[in-house]
Amino acid sequence: MSLCPKGYVEVIEGLARICIPDPKLYTRPNGVFEPAIAPVFYNPDMVENRDIAVTVVDYIAKKKSKTKELVVVEPFAATGVRGIRIAQEVSKPEHFKVVMGDISDEAIKIINLNINLNNLFDKVMVEKSDANELLYRLRRIGIKIDYVDVDPFGSPAPFTHSAIANIRHGGIVAFTATDLAVLEGKYPDKLFRRYGVEGSITPISKDIAVRVLLSYIARTAYIFDRYIEPMLSYVYKHHARVYVRVFEGATKANNQARTCLRKIVVCSYCSYNKVLDLYEHVNTCPLCGSQAIEIKPIWVCKTVDREVIEILVKDLELKPWILKSSKQLLKTLYEYSFIDSLTLRLSLLARALKINTPPKAKIIECLRDLGYKTVKSYVYHDGIISTATVDDVVRCMKS
Ligand SMILES: C[S@@+](CC[C@H](N)C(=O)[O-])C[C@H]1O[C@@H](n2cnc3c(N)ncnc32)[C@H](O)[C@@H]1O
Repeated sequence: MSLCPKGYVEVIEGLARICIPDPKLYTRPNGVFEPAIAPVFYNPDMVENRDIAVTVVDYIAKKKSKTKELVVVEPFAATGVRGIRIAQEVSKPEHFKVVMGDISDEAIKIINLNINLNNLFDKVMVEKSDANELLYRLRRIGIKIDYVDVDPFGSPAPFTHSAIANIRHGGIVAFTATDLAVLEGKYPDKLFRRYGVEGSITPISKDIAVRVLLSYIARTAYIFDRYIEPMLSYVYKHHARVYVRVFEGATKANNQARTCLRKIVVCSYCSYNKVLDLYEHVNTCPLCGSQAIEIKPIWVCKTVDREVIEILVKDLELKPWILKSSKQLLKTLYEYSFIDSLTLRLSLLARALKINTPPKAKIIECLRDLGYKTVKSYVYHDGIISTATVDDVVRCMKS
């Protein structure tokens, strides 16, 4: 028998039992479920996002000494599914605390009910609060935060300062951004106003989106004499997601700001791309002569940490309740971690070269024969990511 209140149904996600608003009541006439119109937000499309978050917290918990307290904060808890899964699924050190917050009364009611349903009252704390207020308050009362999950509606920008300022040295902050169109450069004014980045849409805008987000997060860290190390970054379905470790250190922040914030130029027609220094200019594509788009200041250093992903991939294999698609996403990110390049789109290059698009597998084989690491993109059907120079990609395409 379901213990959920009227208008709610019970679902199992991971190892948690959760009451969620009945999707049948919030389905539009065209049959599409619209979580944003329900009284409390639950998006079944975000299970991969949560699967990976739980695995990252498990990774931190396993690394942490058993005697030290591990504090996880989920300031946008909604139904509580993420925090409850963390409390259920993570191998816990002795002192493990999950703090969940939300600004909505209805959400707080459902979070408490879901905590009860999973018998977790001794492991979690719930507060009705604005996210920024909660994060500053926790630090003020002396709580050292190891992990914060910033998962608001739309942009995480209004909550980036509080997350970065209040995480402990070496702690991890995860950000979800569903304002993907802005990060991709579809609205240049909004991109500049919200993230302080100049640019516009390009044929590889999903690669650019995570680097814009990292640029904003890094610049926020520098304000506090802190710097970041990205652990995981990806675009999946309709959101961008990044996990960064945050460290204190003004000198390292200086060096990182000079090295990792630069300019990327992308051809609007053929997808040719290159990292430039901030003072360099390229207005036309050296490959096809079309308009080149400059994006700056953008994060040009590594976006993933291979050693960590390797551990996460192995860890997920031991967890049968994790979605296959989540496991596959991490495996793909592991492959990418060997190649720190942006995507090239074969059909766009072929159009510019006025040749037919050769089969992707053939090009990958040709580049591997030349000694380059090359994988296919999971974001762009015609995309490859390679350590090769554009000249060698063109050579393979013409051969
Ligand atoms: C996208 S949902 C979170 C989904 C949840 N993390 C999950 O994995 O299912 C965003 C939630 O943030 C809450 N919210 C919106 N603005 C907030 C704020 N300023 N402070 C705290 N919570 C807020 C909303 O009530 C909503 O429940």
